[in-house]
Amino acid sequence: MRDDEFITFSDNKENSSTSLPYEASPCWNMLVVDDDKAVHDVTRLVLKNATVFNRNIVIHSAYSAHEAKELLFSNVTFAFALIDVVMETDTAGLSLIKWIRDEKRDTNIRLVLRTGQPGEAPEQDIISHYDIHDYKEKNELTAKKLFTLSYSCLRTYNDIIKAKEMQTMLRHSVKMEAIGQLASGIVHDFNNILGVILGNVELLQQTPFDNEKQTRRVNSIHKAAMMGKNTTDKLRSFTTNKSAQKKSVNINDLIKSMDTIIDHSTTRNSPVNYDLDNNLWLTNIASNDFEAALLNLIINANEAIIENGYISIKTRNCILTEEFCLENSGAISGEYILLTVRDNGKGISTKDKKLLFDPFFTTKKTGTGLGLAMVFDFINRSLGYITVNSEIELDTTFNLYLPRNHKRE
Ligand SMILES: Nc1ncnc2c1ncn2[C@@H]1O[C@H](COP(=O)(O)OP(=O)(O)O)[C@@H](O)[C@H]1O
Ligand SMILES: [Mg+2]
Repeated sequence: MRDDEFITFSDNKENSSTSLPYEASPCWNMLVVDDDKAVHDVTRLVLKNATVFNRNIVIHSAYSAHEAKELLFSNVTFAFALIDVVMETDTAGLSLIKWIRDEKRDTNIRLVLRTGQPGEAPEQDIISHYDIHDYKEKNELTAKKLFTLSYSCLRTYNDIIKAKEMQTMLRHSVKMEAIGQLASGIVHDFNNILGVILGNVELLQQTPFDNEKQTRRVNSIHKAAMMGKNTTDKLRSFTTNKSAQKKSVNINDLIKSMDTIIDHSTTRNSPVNYDLDNNLWLTNIASNDFEAALLNLIINANEAIIENGYISIKTRNCILTEEFCLENSGAISGEYILLTVRDNGKGISTKDKKLLFDPFFTTKKTGTGLGLAMVFDFINRSLGYITVNSEIELDTTFNLYLPRNHKRE
C-alpha cells in the first residue's frame, strides 16, 4: 500500500471547531488554516491518535486567515500551524505568516505553509523570505509525511520553549546574584546611616515641641526612616554571605508557631484556613527563612483580597514524577513536602506572572517587590521548587515543594 492511500476523506462528523480550553489537559495545540474542509478532515484523521512526548495533538480549525487570527488571539497556546496559501485572497496565508511573526510577535509557533498551487508561490522565494519551518505541496503530504512533519515541528517547538525557559532561569539567577552582591555592599552602610537618623529623631521625639506642625514633621521623618529600615532588612536576606543554618524540621510545627503573627498579618475579612497533614515528612531548611517566606505569601494574599475572601494554608507529602519534571523546567523528581498557600483575591495576569519573582517587581503603590524574590531565593537555597497558578479575579495558588529529608537531627 502506498503512503498516500492512507489519505482518504473522512466522513467522521466529529465537531471540527475549536476544542479543549487552554491547560485543560497537557496537549499540543495545532492550528489548521485552510478554506477546504477536506484538508481539516484528513489532518484530523491522520493525527487522531498521535501522541508526541506523551501528549495528544488537539487540532483547531480555521477556514480563513481572518478566523485564524481570532483563534491566535484566544488563550490557547499553539505549538504549530499548517497554513494554506490561497484562501480569502491569493496571498492570505503569506500575509497571515507575516502578521504572526511581525505583529503578534510569536516567534515560538512552528509554521508550515501548504499550497495546492505550487507555481503560485515558488518554494525558494517563500522559504527564504518567510520565517517558516517548512513549505509543502498538498499532494506531497502523505499520511506518513504529515505525521513526521508534525513530530519534527513539535520537537523543535519543545526545544525552543525549553531553551527560552532555561534562558529566563539563568537571567533570573544572574539577577539574584547581582542583587546579593549589591545588598552585601550597601545594607551595612545604609543601616548605619538609618541608625543615626532614627537615633536622633527618637531623641527629638522625647523633647516636646510647642508647635504641632514640627511634631508631625519629626514623626514623618521617623516613619520614613522606619520604612527604609524595613527595606534594608528585606535586602539583608539577599546578601551573598548566607549563614542561615539549615535544620531538619516538620514545617507544620513552624506554621503552628506562627499563628499569632499570621493572625496579625491578615484582616478579619480574610480568615486563614489551615489544613495540615498529620503525617508530614521532614525537610532540611532554614526555619527563619521559611517563616519569612510564608509570611510574605500570606501578606500578599491578604493584600490581594479586596473585600471578603479566604486564605488557606495546606501541607501534604507528595512525589514529583518524571512527567511533572518534563512539563516544569528546573524541577527534579523525588519526594517533597508541598506547602500550598491559596487565596481568592484579584489574581495575577499572565503578563505579571512572568515577572513575579523578579526583585523589585511590584504592582502596588507602596510595594517593594522583594517579597516573592525572597520566597524564590529561599526555595532555591532549599533545593526546592515553586509553581504559581492564578486566574484573574478568581484565585491564586503558590505551591512550594521542599525536598524530603529522612533523618531527624
Ligand atoms: N496572592 C497574590 N495575588 C495577586 N497578586 C500577587 C499575589 N502575590 C503576589 N502578587 C503580585 O506580585 C507582585 C510582587 O509581590 P512581592 O514580591 O511580594 O512584592 P510587593 O508585595 O512588595 O509588591 C505584587 O505586587 C503583586 O502584583
Ligand atoms: Mg509582598
